[in-house]
Amino acid sequence: MSGVKDLLRSHTSVRKYTGEAIPKETVVDLIQTAQMAASSHFVQAYSVIWVTDEEKKQKLGELSNNEFQFKTAGASFLFCVDFKRLQAAGQKHGVDIAADSAENLLVGVADVGIFAQNFVVAAEDAGYGICYIGGARNNPKEISELFNLPDYVFPLFAMTIGTPTKRNETKPRLPVEAVLHENNYDAEKYETLLDAYDATMEDYYASRSSNQKMANWTKQMADYLVDQNRPHIKEFLASKGFNWK
Ligand SMILES: Cc1cc2nc3c(=O)[nH]c(=O)nc-3n(C[C@H](O)[C@H](O)[C@H](O)COP(=O)(O)O)c2cc1C
Repeated sequence: MSGVKDLLRSHTSVRKYTGEAIPKETVVDLIQTAQMAASSHFVQAYSVIWVTDEEKKQKLGELSNNEFQFKTAGASFLFCVDFKRLQAAGQKHGVDIAADSAENLLVGVADVGIFAQNFVVAAEDAGYGICYIGGARNNPKEISELFNLPDYVFPLFAMTIGTPTKRNETKPRLPVEAVLHENNYDAEKYETLLDAYDATMEDYYASRSSNQKMANWTKQMADYLVDQNRPHIKEFLASKGFNWK
């Protein structure tokens, strides 16, 4: 099993590809592999749009502010939380499912995340590179219209995949002590651990082979989280039938 561990430990996002198209058999195989992911209550609350139409692909790139990646990718996908199929399942039994709940939102988001990461691992094992595109939530209404997403289906993220032109160095993660707690949650350790991690990340950003910069993790997080991100999301989710009941 060390091959799996080595693969997981070598992950880096890829943002530039050779443009070589990924064959349909490979896409189907990767999706079938991803489908074997565990699923909360076995709801399988995901759908994926494989974007093969060039115009739609370009539009998805523009709407998610990642145009260049989509241009060179071998395949592009939109990963969606999907309770529409579950509604159809309920209807088969004369039941109107209570899809609209905060709990179902969490169930769906977890399902898509686990499914997508299975897909990523299978793709990386096949030699491809990938990049998740949360930018798909920048314009979720327009993206939903572009792909005819019905009620109870919303885009969680897009993904590009392809043969990398270059692989970046792996990015150092938080020290394990920062994420691993034993028996009790310990917030006191963060002061020293975050200083150490900032030093690690400063070195990494200053010395990596491309896009060198002066930056550290805590400042990046402070800048990212100081204001509410994508404030349109709550209203968008409500328009898709998710009011967090
Ligand atoms: C859900 C999700 C959304 C992401 N969205 C974007 C994105 O819109 N654009 C991008 O370039 N990278 C995106 N990323 C990639 C992250 O920036 C990347 O995983 C992180 O910086 C760690 O780097 P690594 O994957 O190379 O180890 C996303 C990652 C995840 C998991």
